[in-house]
Amino acid sequence: MSICRQNFASAAEKHLSEQINVELTAQYHYNSAAAYFDRDDVALPGFKKFFKKSSEEEGEHAQMLIDYVNKRGGVCEFSAIEAPPKWTGPLMAMEAALAMEMKVNASLLSLHKTAEDNDDAQMCDFLASNYLGEQIDGQKEIADLITNLKRVGGDNLGLFLFDQQLGSRA
Ligand SMILES: [Fe+2]
Repeated sequence: MSICRQNFASAAEKHLSEQINVELTAQYHYNSAAAYFDRDDVALPGFKKFFKKSSEEEGEHAQMLIDYVNKRGGVCEFSAIEAPPKWTGPLMAMEAALAMEMKVNASLLSLHKTAEDNDDAQMCDFLASNYLGEQIDGQKEIADLITNLKRVGGDNLGLFLFDQQLGSRA
């Protein structure tokens, strides 16, 4: 039984565990996309690097939530992770990533609402400073990549150059 718990509603605690699952699902899906792009018959190292880095970031997002639940004197509940889609190509993967990020964002906004409804100022601050801004930056970044992938179309040299540029980013 926690002795540091204060103003932490069980609805907020439960909702944070659901968000942990959402972030871990994104981590798992992006890791499987990285594995797909690393196959010798796909061989797009820039995409592999992008998805590997994205996967690591999602893992950090999940870990920060886990640490936060414990800091508030709560208990994390872990549940099953949904299987990733079958990856079929760069555009499909980026479109799936954008759909995933929009799902994550909707889930974060709903989590923030739960914090507000329970007058939990600290949880609102935690979500706003660590998740909300970064989330829309990420969505814009993926949307830009999709626009350029569509511009490249079915051009093999275009895709080769796109992959190189993606791989050379920080
Ligand atoms: Fe995330």
